[in-house]
Amino acid sequence: MLESIGLVAFLVLQVQCSVLEPQIPSVASFTPSSGTFELSPFVRIVVDSKYATHGSPSLLDYADTFRSDLEDTLSYTALAPVKLSSVVNNSIFGIPTIYLTLNTSLEYKLYNGQFTDEGYDLQISRDVYLIKGSTPLGVWWGTRTLLQQGAIQLAGGAKTVSFPAGEGSDSPGWEVRGFMLDAGRHWFDTSFLGDLCIYASYFKLNEMHLHASDNLWNPAFLYGDGNEGWKSLYAAFRFQPPAGSALDGLVPRKNESWTQQDFLDMQRTCADHGVTIIPEVDTPGHSLVINQWKSELMENGAPDHLNLSYPDTIPTIKSIWDEFLPWFSAPEVSIGADEYDSALANDYISFVNEMSSYIGAKSNKSIRIWGTNEPSTTLSVSKDITSQHWDFPGDDVPVQLLSRGYRVINSEQAFLYLDGKTSDGGQFPQELNQDLLWSGAPGGKGWAPNIFSPTDPTNNTSIDAPNLRGAVFALWNDWGNNATTALEVYYQLARSMSVFGEKAWAGSDVRPTGLTRDQFDAVYPMLNAAAPGQNLNRVVKPKLGNIVYEYPGTYRSLNTGIPSVGPPYTLSFSVKPDSRSPFTGTLFSGADSKLHVANLTFEATGQLYALGYVLPQDRYTSVEIHATREYTYALIDGDEANPRYWHTLMDIWGEYMALGNMSFAAPSAQMGGDGFAGIIKDVRLRLGA
Ligand SMILES: *[C@@H]1O[C@H](CO)[C@@H](O)[C@H](O)[C@H]1NC(C)=O
Ligand SMILES: *[C@@H]1O[C@H](CO)[C@@H](O)[C@H](O)[C@H]1NC(C)=O
Ligand SMILES: *[C@@H]1O[C@H](CO)[C@@H](O)[C@H](O)[C@H]1NC(C)=O
Ligand SMILES: *[C@@H]1O[C@H](CO)[C@@H](O)[C@H](O)[C@H]1NC(C)=O
Ligand SMILES: *[C@@H]1O[C@H](CO)[C@@H](O)[C@H](O)[C@H]1NC(C)=O
Ligand SMILES: *[C@@H]1O[C@H](CO)[C@@H](O)[C@H](O)[C@H]1NC(C)=O
Ligand SMILES: *[C@@H]1O[C@H](CO)[C@@H](O)[C@H](O)[C@H]1NC(C)=O
Ligand SMILES: *[C@@H]1O[C@H](CO)[C@@H](O)[C@H](O)[C@H]1NC(C)=O
Ligand SMILES: *[C@@H]1O[C@H](CO)[C@@H](O)[C@H](O)[C@H]1NC(C)=O
Ligand SMILES: *[C@@H]1O[C@H](CO)[C@@H](O)[C@H](O)[C@H]1NC(C)=O
Repeated sequence: MLESIGLVAFLVLQVQCSVLEPQIPSVASFTPSSGTFELSPFVRIVVDSKYATHGSPSLLDYADTFRSDLEDTLSYTALAPVKLSSVVNNSIFGIPTIYLTLNTSLEYKLYNGQFTDEGYDLQISRDVYLIKGSTPLGVWWGTRTLLQQGAIQLAGGAKTVSFPAGEGSDSPGWEVRGFMLDAGRHWFDTSFLGDLCIYASYFKLNEMHLHASDNLWNPAFLYGDGNEGWKSLYAAFRFQPPAGSALDGLVPRKNESWTQQDFLDMQRTCADHGVTIIPEVDTPGHSLVINQWKSELMENGAPDHLNLSYPDTIPTIKSIWDEFLPWFSAPEVSIGADEYDSALANDYISFVNEMSSYIGAKSNKSIRIWGTNEPSTTLSVSKDITSQHWDFPGDDVPVQLLSRGYRVINSEQAFLYLDGKTSDGGQFPQELNQDLLWSGAPGGKGWAPNIFSPTDPTNNTSIDAPNLRGAVFALWNDWGNNATTALEVYYQLARSMSVFGEKAWAGSDVRPTGLTRDQFDAVYPMLNAAAPGQNLNRVVKPKLGNIVYEYPGTYRSLNTGIPSVGPPYTLSFSVKPDSRSPFTGTLFSGADSKLHVANLTFEATGQLYALGYVLPQDRYTSVEIHATREYTYALIDGDEANPRYWHTLMDIWGEYMALGNMSFAAPSAQMGGDGFAGIIKDVRLRLGA
């Protein structure tokens, strides 16, 4: 009986497996033949020895990462990659073989006809699953395809993973497929950023643009007559100069900067996953951090602008690039160059052109700037510079730039901007707007990198515009460090990266295999849950039912060994602080958050959020903390009528204060500590809010 059920399941699987499952992004083409490739619990990855050390990362490096991803996402045991000179198959090892190789003569083309090194071919037979690219990077994207197929099958209830035999070919429509994170106004550590790269890579994004210097914008503090508020307005530059450097004063807050080693490790992590970091140092606007260091460089009356005609200004900017260019492995960097005075158009244009030549000569890198319409009648921006369009009408019109021979990246805010937690007047959504991305462009076809306006088709281009390089979507942090935790930023990016991955790889309505919105909605949750190499969802396996842990009885302190648990969860306990000792210390702490006893204050990403409830001392209070990705609240002594939310207060351009909810991961690693005196009782952490 059992066997026949097994047989039916097997046959169903065979039928399901005659085509590839829809995935994100969609695969350009696949033609099934007969037969099936079965993954058994052991898999062997074989790397063509002729190409094993080709490239950096090499084919073998990518194979190693792929191996751990197979274990992580499919729970398969993959044997260490071996190098062999010819295609091998199951009949030799008796175990399924995934064969990774190159054919450097293979040619893949972007929609604009230019060659791309990111394409790959699939050849699946009963005996071997072969992934072939013209470069190791193409093969890497092919491994993402395999992992996603497997994850979708397992999520759909399959006991084992199998693939239809057949041949396929896949490559991106656009060269640039990235996300930008404002890491200037909000601090993020490199391990979080590295995890974002790994997650983005699963959806075949290939760039993380790091906006690494900026300041909060408060016009009264910046431009108010005689106001010195600019001196203390939050501004930051994230690359930490080496000890003793002349640039030391540029980074007063060392605890919110990346050391060279941390940066290089992150850059390596990203590169190991096919993602290039495009670093941005924003000048001559958005430069308060430089003027807080050297106020003589300031433009009169505009502390966040540099005075480009002051003799020491451009040499100072060059000295910053001199120090940090050697850190960067990308062939391009961004010098920002947005929102500068239109009255100083010639200063601006001479500056960007000079920086383009300087950075080119110094490091053989080219530069990007944010699209900026500087009305000069005598000078023009060099065509070596790529323009990243974001704004109508403040910025040059992209169709016109393209026709004048400029290279353009689409970051149009109507489709591609997000702001941490909230935006002024609801201008930007929490996640990329799915309605707009699937059908909101002219003609109802959905967004793609060639679409620049949701209303005016004259502002879009055809998909094959020669100088249209692709798109980068952006998450800004206008309200600074305390508006969001790092994980809240991930919640805004997670689905956004995925839908963007489809649109920037395949486009909208270009390929017959392109995803429909329904297909996307069906597979996204499975892929989000299965994305390997990071645990941004902070998932833990519950011990029993939905209980992560349960500690009946009383404790002064205890280690649980569980670093952090993502929402939704409920953490309940009773606590009796001791009045004979200072009212300090932590009730709970974890990798992403802490809960201090004083005022029941949560701490995350270095920021404090008080609940404003003072626990009575010398008697027990029962506390139940409920958290989702949108909020965290406490019920005190079971008072359900009176949920108390942890809030942040955001300063919106110095004009008004906006209240926002906070979501915190559970501080699950330890209870008690940091001098907490008292007793914690009957602790339970369960999944679900
Ligand atoms: C598998 O390997 C054996 C031995 O080298 C060979 O005879 C056979 O043709 C191979 N099968 C395929 C599908 O490559
Ligand atoms: C490599 O690709 C080229 C171009 O498609 C093709 O002509 C050649 O036969 C391929 N080589 C191998 C060994 O498959
Ligand atoms: C910029 O610096 C120059 C040279 O020192 C000075 O003449 C000019 O007034 C400054 N302009 C502004 C707007 O600060
Ligand atoms: C300079 O960069 C270009 C573009 O990335 C590359 O093609 C060229 O080989 C590089 N030249 C040197 C000398 O590294
Ligand atoms: C955008 O414009 C191009 C070129 O004019 C046109 O071919 C295309 O249909 C338009 N697409 C949309 C969605 O408006
Ligand atoms: C479209 O481009 C024109 C210039 O060609 C520009 O003036 C206009 O603002 C753009 N329209 C929209 C809706 O973005
Ligand atoms: C609790 O918060 C209030 C108001 O935010 C503050 O005045 C008080 O000092 C805090 N008490 C403790 C113990 O932190
Ligand atoms: C860095 O130090 C400053 C000053 O002590 C503090 O306000 C800030 O919260 C710290 N940042 C982090 C991320 O811990
Ligand atoms: C967050 O920072 C702003 C300054 O940017 C400050 O006005 C506000 O009070 C802070 N909110 C909290 C909850 O600390
Ligand atoms: C916080 O979340 C709760 C529950 O969704 C909601 O009722 C409340 O309005 C939110 N508060 C803020 C400031 O957004």
